[in-house]
Formats: sequence, structure tokens, C-alpha cells
Amino acid sequence: MSNKTATLTIGNESWDFNVLPGTVGPEVVDIGSLYAKTGRFTYDQGFTSTAACESKICYIDGDAGILEYRGYPIEQLAEQSDFLEVCYLLLYGELPTAAQKADFDHRVTYHTMVHEQMSRFFTGFRRDAHPMAIMVASVGALSAFYHDSTDIADPHQRMVASLRMIAKIPTLAAMAFKYHVGQPFVYPLNSLDYSANFLRMCFAVPCEEYKVNPVLARAMDRIFILHAEHEQNASTSTVRLAGSSGANPFACIAAGCACLWGPAHGGANEAALNMLQQIGTADRIPEYVAKAKDKNDPFRLMGFGHRVYKNYDPRAKIMQKTCHEVLAELGIQDDPLLEVAMELEKIALHDEYFIEKKLYPNVDFYSGIILKAMGFPTTMFTVLFAVARTVGWIAQWKEMIEDPGQRIGRPRQLYTGQTRRDYIPVSKRR
Ligand code: ACO
Repeated sequence: MSNKTATLTIGNESWDFNVLPGTVGPEVVDIGSLYAKTGRFTYDQGFTSTAACESKICYIDGDAGILEYRGYPIEQLAEQSDFLEVCYLLLYGELPTAAQKADFDHRVTYHTMVHEQMSRFFTGFRRDAHPMAIMVASVGALSAFYHDSTDIADPHQRMVASLRMIAKIPTLAAMAFKYHVGQPFVYPLNSLDYSANFLRMCFAVPCEEYKVNPVLARAMDRIFILHAEHEQNASTSTVRLAGSSGANPFACIAAGCACLWGPAHGGANEAALNMLQQIGTADRIPEYVAKAKDKNDPFRLMGFGHRVYKNYDPRAKIMQKTCHEVLAELGIQDDPLLEVAMELEKIALHDEYFIEKKLYPNVDFYSGIILKAMGFPTTMFTVLFAVARTVGWIAQWKEMIEDPGQRIGRPRQLYTGQTRRDYIPVSKRR
């Protein structure tokens, strides 16, 4: 705790508020007592200047393009770690020893199957349902199947629910995919690692032998690592707010999935690929760049810009490299989408509008090309993001529940509606 204070003056009155330092990053002004002291609220639409919680999980410096999970740079984790190790790190705060890692892998793997009744739940959907619609519903439905891990006051149940979520979400995602494409569900195979198992559940069919391609499994794992956590973004804040009322973790993660679906957030990878397809060829790029710059046109370059990164998104660089590796492995040369993407990136990085507004490619810009090359339809892209982000949501939810100072989240408002007026019976209204 520092001795620094910030003084707020309104008219002739002044009040002091403590300034709290983090271990790194901007200090915060603790305005928790603002209303009690001054009778005023703060107003911050979109939470651009508001820290809603204290957290030890993830650090981002958007100006410098830095992303760290528990202090470890994302580049090192993507290069040297694997997704389940990252899950352990996010949940427990430290990298595991070899024995801890083996035990954790076993505990997650042990939970990969879902209750058989869940498969009937899926058949209630239309085949053309968006897989994210199925995910929101099926993740929420887990709370109807696993009552023995919904007591949030019990640390053991909290950990079981966390492991269940991490283990079962790929199974549900693969089932949503299989249902969508009209193929039979494939059960998990626990001798495979997390990402290889997921690819097999998505792409194996009962009538043929399926061999996991290690380059694709590694790329999938890296995509999961890159999307695993991103501090207090919209879906994570949704999970925290839902959890703050004491809702069970499955319901909270379903709320996170719903928020992630939006095109300004996790839906952007689907939107980015659709945009690249719409542009089609490099010669049409100037037309779309002009549209993106036109104030009267709602069109935006999908996969560009970020609320926090005002520099190149560090995840986008790793994604670009992975994209080249996957296309080379699959023998895809001269992919027209990649060509459009690289040319678009080049033009946008040199364009005054994008430079001035600090709009750089974000994580979603290249991920769509990789996922498409792997065989996923665009409708699955946000689902894959949800699979990866589940651990981040769960780690944040656990951290919140385990904070002794935790209270229900309840923002206030600036009311600009009607002032008090009397009810008029319908016969007298004009
Ligand atoms: N294309 C063109 N112009 C843009 C873009 C874009 N992609 N993004 C922002 N701008 C412009 C805005 O029009 C605005 O211009 P103005 O100041 O003249 O009004 C300015 O840049 C600031 O934009 P805001 O929308 O105010 O920035 P905000 O931080 O609220 O939005 C967001 C960030 C939602 C990511 C935005 O950049 C966007 O819509 N990008 C496209 C969607 C996308 O790729 N989302 C993925 C985010 S990453 C993730 O969720 C994993």
C-alpha cells in the first residue's frame, strides 16, 4: 500500500482517495468510498478507465504489445509449453513439476466424457443451428448433470467443477460440430493429448482409421494457448459478474460463451474470414480500406483494432507464423485468403488512418485462415475460442470466489430518463 492519495474537488469541497499500486502497470485510484463520501458516482461507459477487480492471473501492456500469463510471456508459453500446462499455470499460479503435470493431465483426461444423456440434449436442436447457440445451451446444461460440483462454497467442488469444465468443453464443442455436419459423435480417446483428442473427436468417422497430424495438433494447441486468457475482457467480466451473485460455475461459463459470441469479441475470427472471402482478391483491398475509413459506412476491417492493444497484438505474430506452418504442412500453396490477408495487413499498417488510430491486426486476423485450412467451417471458429478461453474464465471465477472481500457486482448509472409522473388510465391517454 502506498501513501499516495488523489484529491477530487467538486465546487468548494475536496476529498482524498488512496492510490493503489500494482506489481506492474498503471496505479488505480480506489474510489470504493466515493458515493459514501461525496454522494456521486463515476461515469465510465465501456469501462475504459475502470479496474473492476484485483487479479494476479494475466498482465497486458497494450501500448508495448505485452501479454503475460502469471508473469510468463505469451511468446515463451506458445513456443515451449502445452495447453494443459498453461491451464495448470492459470489455475494454480505456478508452472507444475513433472509429477504435478502428470497428475493434472490425468485428472483432466479422466473427465473428458460427458453424461450419455447429453447426446439426447443435442438432438433437440435443428441441424442448421449455429454451433455457438448449441454451446451456450449445452454448457449451461452441465449444471443439470453435475450437481455434485455446484456448491461454490466447497473448495473441492470448485476444483472438480473447474477440471470438468476444462475437460468437457472440447467434447461438447466436437459434438456441436458433429451435429452441425450430420456425423455421429466420436467419444474422447484418453491416450491422446488434449488437442490431438479434440481434433480426433472433430474429424474422425467410425468407418475410417484416423491418424492425428502432429503439426496440426501442435497448431491447435498453440491456438488454445494464445486464446486461454486475456484479463478483464467482456466475456471474462461477464463470467465474474454472473459468478458474483453465487451462480454455479457451469451457468457462469455459459454466460461467458454468450458474451464471447458477439462479432466485436470472439465472433471476430468468423467475421474476419468472411471479410477476407468477401474481398476475394488483393486488387479489391483499396475499396474495402476506403469503406473502413468512411465515417458514414458501418463497415470495419475485422481482425483489426483492439480495446487494449494499441500496438501489434503479440498473439497475432505467433498466429501468422503458425498459419504459414499449417499451410505448408497441408501443401496449400498460394492460398488466396492468405494472400489477401498479408496484402491487407501491409496496406493497413502503412495507411495514415490506421496508424493514427493505432489499429493493428489482432489475434483473430490469421486464426481463421488456419482453422479453415484444418477443415473447420467458419461457424466453429468462436466455439474453438470458447474451448480455449474456458480455463481463463474458470481461473478468474475461482480467484473471485476465493477473494474474502468479494461482493456481488452491481454497477450504478447516470439516469437520464423521465422524472416522476403520475399514471394515466388508458381511457384518458391521448
Ligand atoms: N476498422 C476501421 N476502423 C476502426 C476499426 C476497424 N476494425 N476499429 C476501430 N476503428 C476506428 C473507429 O471507427 C473509431 O474511429 P473514430 O475515433 O473516428 O470514431 C476508432 O477507431 C476507435 O474505435 P472504437 O470502436 O472506439 O474502439 P474500441 O476500443 O471501442 O473497439 C474493437 C475495439 C471493438 C475491437 C474495434 O477495434 C473493432 O470493432 N474491431 C473489429 C472487430 C474485431 O476484430 N474484434 C476482435 C477483438 S479481439 C478479441 O476479441 C479476441
